[in-house]
Amino acid sequence: MNPQGVLKGVAKTALGMAVVRAHESLRGDRLFDDPYAQRFLDAAPGAFPGQSASAEDLAAMGPSASLGALFAFHGVLRTRFFDDCLLAATAAGCQQVVLLAAGLDARAFRLSWPDGVRVFELDLPEVFAFKEAVLDGLGAMPACERRTVPVDLRAGWAGRLVAAGFDRAVPAAWLAEGLLLYLTADEVTRLLSEVGELSTPGSRLAFEHGGIADPAVLAQARGMPTLDEYTPLWRGGLGEDAPGRLGRNGWRPHIHDRAELAASYGRPIPGPSGGGFLTATRTGR
Ligand SMILES: C[S@@+](CC[C@H](N)C(=O)[O-])C[C@H]1O[C@@H](n2cnc3c(N)ncnc32)[C@H](O)[C@@H]1O
Repeated sequence: MNPQGVLKGVAKTALGMAVVRAHESLRGDRLFDDPYAQRFLDAAPGAFPGQSASAEDLAAMGPSASLGALFAFHGVLRTRFFDDCLLAATAAGCQQVVLLAAGLDARAFRLSWPDGVRVFELDLPEVFAFKEAVLDGLGAMPACERRTVPVDLRAGWAGRLVAAGFDRAVPAAWLAEGLLLYLTADEVTRLLSEVGELSTPGSRLAFEHGGIADPAVLAQARGMPTLDEYTPLWRGGLGEDAPGRLGRNGWRPHIHDRAELAASYGRPIPGPSGGGFLTATRTGR
């Protein structure tokens, strides 16, 4: 496979997360185990020449070390937190899980889902061209009913999701992990409005909130060599007052502080803190 030919631009950011998850999976005190992450990297040799997201390599980078370690740790923490959110949502009755911009997320394979759960993965067609080739080559078997939906999440995706079997009468758990920053505020507003229209009461939604997406943190990140493939792709995301906007649009939001979560997992944050994650429960259409 020639990943350089397949995963380019924003699609390649999925591979960056595989680096983070592969490193974490090697740790004795890992917060999750993703055996597929390294397999994706094995299928993409040379994708990140001279770069690594290991804490040790980041620590050797000098002034930007703490921020680099913070970004890598954020990826680790969010993976574990969203694992927990999705399993809690399915235990509470959400029989459908929708991974918006699934990237190389292997949750459909590595988590223990309750019987009957259907996981939809949405991302750009080129991501699935790479991902499915690797998974097929491994003979990987999902631990749920898994459906892939190749789409551009900026327009026209909702009909494709319904055509793939999504049932708007059944509560769903939606995850937008590592996505919103790559969209403009208008695109995020449209996306969340469509998610709302497809969400029956009891549905859940989760994404990152504040902190790592602060303008000051992002400005500093733009100077980091390890992130220079990503930062030009950032479009701003949702912006301020996500909880207020969700609250006015049929959701009951809840903010989870990143530092508190990290502490609860026994892994303090390596650097400046702030922000965290937003989860929300659908109260009305
Ligand atoms: C940083 S990765 C995160 C992937 C995954 N959620 C994770 O955390 O590992 C961002 C993902 O967003 C996807 N993406 C960005 N813009 C998109 C769009 N307009 N439509 C569909 N997917 C998009 C990319 O292809 C990529 O897989």
